[in-house]
Amino acid sequence: VFPDRVSACDAAAERVAHALRSAVATRGQAILGLATGSTPEPIYAHLVKLHREGTLSFANVATYNLDEYYPISPLDPNSYRSYMHRHLFGAVDLPANRAHVLDGTVPESAAAEHAAQYDRWIAADGGLDFQLLGLGRNGHIGFNEPTDLSAEAAMRLPTRLVDLHPTTRADAAKDFGGESRVIPRALTVGVAPILAARSILVVAFGPNKAESVAQSLRGPITAQVPGSLLQAAPGTVTWILDEAAAQAL
Ligand code: F6R
Repeated sequence: VFPDRVSACDAAAERVAHALRSAVATRGQAILGLATGSTPEPIYAHLVKLHREGTLSFANVATYNLDEYYPISPLDPNSYRSYMHRHLFGAVDLPANRAHVLDGTVPESAAAEHAAQYDRWIAADGGLDFQLLGLGRNGHIGFNEPTDLSAEAAMRLPTRLVDLHPTTRADAAKDFGGESRVIPRALTVGVAPILAARSILVVAFGPNKAESVAQSLRGPITAQVPGSLLQAAPGTVTWILDEAAAQAL
């Protein structure tokens, strides 16, 4: 728990950089799962700074983003592909063909196959060394929204096309100019590939996240709070919070 977002994001970025460097040193490449949203923006700014200073290279990195609105053009400023280009991809030496974002332009009849192929690409790269996560106000991870499934069934969810939860649509309203204009569906990396990451870093800030942070960390493991499924992850899970997000712990 950090006193403020700036120090928390600096620490988070140093952890991402450490995970990247140690995977490259031991395996020759690093496979990173990345998040979008407002929380990680300063983390990407810090990584770009390290790259500009010459201490961090993405030359031997592949990235897999968590989610993308559906349908959406990659050129739409609200697409997560364009977010990643603005905040990271356009400013570092990550090979363009190693920067994966789910494709919001695939025809709906091909969406399931595209999602399954994304999981196969992650597996073919040896799985995720590191997954960066934000947490939704409703406890979602990626766009794995609260569900009535059993926790065991939710933990097996693959990458797929989903409907966004009303809370998620409300939170995205500012980006789309009103809640009714928010694209109501998305492609999301599933709970299963997220949990399989060798190391997971969850970052959450502000009083709006306090309840879902507390339920995720201290509550029962339930698919109604997808963040709580992280308690069952076989790898290392680290949470970086500011004091406001930690206030209900
Ligand atoms: C984004 C994502 C989401 C966000 C979450 C928090 O790729 O998968 O789960 O991490 O909605 O969003 P912010 O950071 O905007 O509060």
